[in-house]
Amino acid sequence: MRSARSARGAPPARGERPHVALTTPSQLEKGSHGRANLDAGDVILEVDVVLDVALALADECTMSAREPLVRLLSAAESERYSDFFAAGAQAHPDTLRIAPEDIECAPFSTAATDDSATFVAEAGDGSWLGVCTVERERGRLKRRHVAWLVRMYVTAHVAGRGVGRALLERAMARAAAMPGIAKVNLTVAAHNAAAIHLYESVGFRTFSREEDAFRDPESRTELSMSAVVREG
Ligand SMILES: CC(C)(COP(=O)(O)OP(=O)(O)OC[C@H]1O[C@@H](n2cnc3c(N)ncnc32)[C@H](O)[C@@H]1OP(=O)(O)O)[C@@H](O)C(=O)NCCC(=O)NCCS
Repeated sequence: MRSARSARGAPPARGERPHVALTTPSQLEKGSHGRANLDAGDVILEVDVVLDVALALADECTMSAREPLVRLLSAAESERYSDFFAAGAQAHPDTLRIAPEDIECAPFSTAATDDSATFVAEAGDGSWLGVCTVERERGRLKRRHVAWLVRMYVTAHVAGRGVGRALLERAMARAAAMPGIAKVNLTVAAHNAAAIHLYESVGFRTFSREEDAFRDPESRTELSMSAVVREG
């Protein structure tokens, strides 16, 4: 993972002027004080922050921005989310292992909890550009230090403009703020070069490879990747 993380939304498309962004040091724990950089494009100020307060503030601020920015989804947005993500599953059967029928059968809640957060990248007109979820692994006490990055999807018309990276960085910051989370895991289709490049660039490394992991109906190989968010 990079040495700093963005606590505020997505960077703008390449070549455009950035919004104000808050960047906190990766070792800053939830609830603790620390120095952060407030980047307003022309000036970078060093400010004191309490990390969870800064993250909450960032969630509110991004609501009013005109350019694509990342914010947390709420429970009330689950239905819109399902429609948006089902369109992604339809458009990318070879890289998203979830079929639209799976989404219909098992409704997904976008409620933000201490252990789960779903982010959306939103354009200035309110349309959605991409989503991703980070959640603590459930069901095993001995694996409470593991979080999963799942359901990463950016609409094809804005692919390659940094939306996926912004979502990923925000999700990783959230994982690092979850008490006790030491690493984030994910799976990715082995032929998904853009996604693998993106994940490796923030510190993910491949630890296993599964042949015939899903069929769309073509047999697809998947990689399992992991990134450390907290040592020890
Ligand atoms: C994969 C996905 C999430 C990436 O989102 P995105 O917004 O296009 O990603 P970004 O623009 O933030 O970054 C893409 C990076 O991959 C790079 N890239 C693009 N195509 C590439 C390729 N064929 N090979 C290697 N790198 C590539 C870009 O240059 C960029 O890296 P850079 O920032 O170092 O230049 C998006 O394309 C997507 O949703 N695809 C369909 C669903 C999917 O595959 N989801 C992932 C499931 S694990």
